[in-house]
Amino acid sequence: MINICVFASGEGSNFQNLVSHFNNSTLAKVSILISNKLDCGAVKISKVFNIKHLIITEDNSDYIVEELVSCKIDLIILAGYLKKIPKQLIDKFKIVNIHPSLLPKFGGKGMYGMNVHKSVIDSGESESGITIHFVNEEFDKGEVISQYKCNVSKEDTPESLSIKVRNLESKYFPVEIEMLIHRLDLINGKI
Ligand code: GRF
Repeated sequence: MINICVFASGEGSNFQNLVSHFNNSTLAKVSILISNKLDCGAVKISKVFNIKHLIITEDNSDYIVEELVSCKIDLIILAGYLKKIPKQLIDKFKIVNIHPSLLPKFGGKGMYGMNVHKSVIDSGESESGITIHFVNEEFDKGEVISQYKCNVSKEDTPESLSIKVRNLESKYFPVEIEMLIHRLDLINGKI
C-alpha cells in the first residue's frame, strides 16, 4: 500500500477528491494531511475522514521529515499549499503539485487562487487549465507530468474560470496520481 501525504492550506477540494478516490483502494491511501492553517477546509475534511493531520507553523523540517518517515510516506502531494517546501523534503521525497493554469504561464510567486484566474482573464487568453508537475526548488518550475485545458470565453470572469478549472481538477488529478504511482513503480519501492 502506497502512503500519500497531502500538504494543503485552503478549501481542500483537491484533498477531498484524493481521499475519496483512494478510499477503499488497495493501491494507495491518503495517510496524513499537513497544513499551516489550523482551521482551513482541508483540516476540517481530515477530521471528517479520520485522517491524521499535522499543523506546522514554523520551519521545522527535521520534525516533518521524521513524521513522514515514521508514517512510511511514499509520495507527497501539494494541493493548494501556500508555503515554500523545505529543501530537505524535496531532496528526500517525490513531490507533486497541482497548479491552476497552463504552466509556465501564470506561475511563480503570488500566482495562486483567484490571482491566477484574474491574470488569465486580464491577459485575454483563449485557454487555461491545470498543470500537474513535480516540485523542485523553484516555484512552479518542476518537470510537467500532464496538462489539461479548458477554453476561456469573452464572457468568462475569474469566478466562472475557476469553476472550469476546478472541474478539470476533480476529473483528472486523482486519476493522474494513480497513473503516476504505477509509472514511478512506487509499489515496488523503485523511484
Ligand atoms: C487549486 O486550484 C489548486 O490547483 C491550487 O490551489 C487550489 C486549491 O484548492 N494549487 P483546494 O484547496 O484544493 O480547494
